[in-house]
Amino acid sequence: MKILHNRILKEGQALNENVLKVDSFLNHQVDPELMFQMGTYFKNYFKDKGITKVFTIESSGIAPAVMTAMQMNLPMVTLKKQSSKILKGDVYQTTIHSFTKGVDYELTLSKKYINSEDKILIIDDFLANGEAAQGAARLVEAAGAKVSGIGIVIEKSFQTGREKLTEKGYDVYSLARIAKLGKDLIEFVSE
Ligand code: G4P
Ligand code: NA
Ligand code: NA
Repeated sequence: MKILHNRILKEGQALNENVLKVDSFLNHQVDPELMFQMGTYFKNYFKDKGITKVFTIESSGIAPAVMTAMQMNLPMVTLKKQSSKILKGDVYQTTIHSFTKGVDYELTLSKKYINSEDKILIIDDFLANGEAAQGAARLVEAAGAKVSGIGIVIEKSFQTGREKLTEKGYDVYSLARIAKLGKDLIEFVSE
């Protein structure tokens, strides 16, 4: 997605070799027009997959996910992060370990918002080691539903996430794929 590449080059800041800061349009301030255009890309890629719902993980996945769901005319469900391990009500829950942040959290989905017939598109802002996406997929599969696609805004291709997800057979589509980060350096995967 050319305009996303340009925004990343213009406003993105590589904090080190591993972390890209994009607070001006995705993680803190949000550019709704750009989010809408992301939604168009995701819709065009996934439109023939029989998707019934768009899932995302709070909080930065919500903006691109809702814009995608709107254009696909589908509901959007936010998977919630809870720190407690206590099961409340009728929920599916799974533990996720974040390597980037060094914390564990419980990803939670109410049983009300999924059924075994669902074909789910998971959207998230970043793909690093794929822990969040795999956790979201575990919740979908615990309900007997299918993960029909994974849409990512920014994939860090030098980390292990994409490889793990494609190995498991998931269809991963990323709008920007970063090959390398460094001081004053942001390099995309050549397509
Ligand atoms: P993983 O799921 O792919 O294994 O990633 P990881 O747990 O390591 O990521 C933890 C959090 O850090 C996630 O946000 C993720 O989006 C974010 N993240 C990972 N790499 C980068 C990066 O290079 N730049 C930025 N800006 N964020 C990154 P989160 O804690 O779930 O919160 P939220 O931002 O969605 O609210
Ligand atoms: Na996120
Ligand atoms: Na994030």
